[in-house]
Amino acid sequence: MKTNKAIIFDLDGVIVDTAKYHFIAWKKIAADLGVKFTIEDNEQLKGVSRIQSLEKILEMGSKKLSQEEKDQLLKAKNEHYLSLISNMDESEILPGISKLLDDLDAEKIPYALGSASKNAKRILNTLGLIHRFKGIVDGTHVTKAKPDPEVFLIASEMLQYHPLNCIVIEDSVAGIQAANSVGMTSIGIGDKKVLFEADFILENTSFLDLNFIKKI
Ligand code: BG6
Ligand code: MG
Repeated sequence: MKTNKAIIFDLDGVIVDTAKYHFIAWKKIAADLGVKFTIEDNEQLKGVSRIQSLEKILEMGSKKLSQEEKDQLLKAKNEHYLSLISNMDESEILPGISKLLDDLDAEKIPYALGSASKNAKRILNTLGLIHRFKGIVDGTHVTKAKPDPEVFLIASEMLQYHPLNCIVIEDSVAGIQAANSVGMTSIGIGDKKVLFEADFILENTSFLDLNFIKKI
């Protein structure tokens, strides 16, 4: 185990601007179910697995569905989401991220991905970023969704860094809680009223740079 720091990046809403597409796709599912679903409600879904996101929407509308109906909705949501991101390219990498990855490489600070998404590899491929990460842990590797820290613990093992020496960059409450629960340093990207549990909060990724990371 090494003692300097390593970074674990969330994907949606940190590396790439896909959080808005997840919201659009869930909003359509909620509307079809007759469930009111606002952008504030969507904060509870960020970082959360596909199935748990659906369960939360059903809970919001006090709806009960059979497993078969749930499976159909999950399929429909993902198809809609994939169609929304089908034209995505490097221009949707969030501000400052490409430069930060270059700077981390130059400083030999290792980084991995810790995402709940089962579409993570497809997205990183589209963005030309797939070969940059020392490890990729996504929704296909974990049995427990954030706020469980499983995804980040697997990433820290891949990096061969102790959890206390890992810095997690996240835009979701569930992800911040996951990182905090195992003593990783958490950087929240977004609204400080929502992400107040994070060790550090930045309004958006343009404030995230090597200097900031080094000061931690
Ligand atoms: C997370 C997103 O990264 O991945 C969630 O914040 C999403 O909104 C989850 O539900 C699962 O993603 P996917 O691509 O497997 O449906
Ligand atoms: Mg996210």
